[in-house]
Amino acid sequence: MRVGVLTGGGDCPGLNAVLRAIVRKGAAAYGHEFVGFRDGWRGVLEGDVRPLGVPDVRGLLPRGGTILGSSRTNPFAIDDGVARIRETLEAQGVDALIAIGGEDTLGVATRLHDDGVRVVGVPKTIDNDLGGTDYTFGFDTAVSIAMEAIDRLHTTAESHHRVLIVEVMGRHAGWIALHAGLAGGANGILIPEQPFDMDRVEAWVESRFRDRYASIIVVSEGAMPIGGAEVLQSAQKDAFGHARLGGVGDWLAHEIERRTGKEARTTVLGHVQRGGTPTARDRWLATRFGLHAIDAVEAGEWGTMAALRGTDIVMVPLLEATKRLKTVDPALYAEAEVFFG
Ligand code: F6P
Repeated sequence: MRVGVLTGGGDCPGLNAVLRAIVRKGAAAYGHEFVGFRDGWRGVLEGDVRPLGVPDVRGLLPRGGTILGSSRTNPFAIDDGVARIRETLEAQGVDALIAIGGEDTLGVATRLHDDGVRVVGVPKTIDNDLGGTDYTFGFDTAVSIAMEAIDRLHTTAESHHRVLIVEVMGRHAGWIALHAGLAGGANGILIPEQPFDMDRVEAWVESRFRDRYASIIVVSEGAMPIGGAEVLQSAQKDAFGHARLGGVGDWLAHEIERRTGKEARTTVLGHVQRGGTPTARDRWLATRFGLHAIDAVEAGEWGTMAALRGTDIVMVPLLEATKRLKTVDPALYAEAEVFFG
C-alpha cells in the first residue's frame, strides 16, 4: 500500500516519533511505501509532498517539531477543497492517509472519512483536551517545561516579595496549568473550565504574604474572570475560527497590583512549551500511537484513531476526538484547591 502521512495544527513534541514508528513498522512488517504531505492539509491540497522512507525517519526520536511541517489550513474553508484533496491522493497513488493532529486536523479527517476517504487518525495536542484518549503526547513535555519554569520563579518571587504569574497554554482546558501548577507548588491555579473570582485570587495573594512567603499563580491562556471574557492577543481568526489567545496573565498582574499594592509580574511561556525534545513518556506514547495507527491501516480500520485507555492503545472512532473535548473535572480541580492561598 502507498500511505500518505500529514501533521497538522500546532506542532507538538513527539510528532517525529509518531512518523518514525509508522514508517519503521509499515515498511518492515507490511512492506508499505510512504509519502509525506508538507504542512498538514496544505500539502494535500497543493500536492506538496516529500519522501518519507526509513532513511528519512532515522534519528528522529529526540527531535521536536515535525519534519513534515505543519499549518492550520482548513480544506473545508475552501470551495473546491475536498475535490482537490481527492485529486492529489489519486495523482500520488495514495491508498490511505494517516492524519496526525488535534481537534481541527482530526475534525477534517472525520469529515473526509464520511466522504469516503480512507483515513486513520493519531491524536496530538499539548493541551491534552481531545476526547476518546486518556492522554495525548506532547502534554507531558509541556507540563515538564512549565513545572521547571515555576520551580525557577519561586526563588525570584521569594527574593523580591513579588507576585509572579505564569501564563501557560490551554485554549479550552486547564490540564497544563493544573498539572504544572500542582507539581510546581503554585498557590493559585486558574483554568478555562472554572471562571475565577478576583476577590478569591486577592485573598490567596494576601494570605501568602501574611505567611511571609511570595505568591505564584498559574493561569491558562483561556481562563477568564466570572462574568468576563477570554483575553485575546488578536481578534483575527484562523481558518478554523480560533482567535489568538494571550494576555490574561498581564491582566491579572495589573488587577492584583491594583487591589493589593504588591508588585506583580507575568511570565508567558508561550511556544517554549511546544518546543524542543520530547520527554521519555511522550516518545513512548507517540511511538505506540504510530505503531497502532499503521496496524489499523493494514487492517482497513478506516475512520478510527489510536487512543490511550489506561495502559492499552485501542482504536476508537475518529469522531470521539472532537465530539466532546476533554476538560478538567471539577473534582480534580477541587483536589488542588487545598494548596491555594
Ligand atoms: O492547540 C494547541 C495550542 O498550543 C493552544 O494551547 C494554543 O492556544 C494554540 O495552540 C496556539 O497556536 P499557534 O501556535 O498557532 O498560535
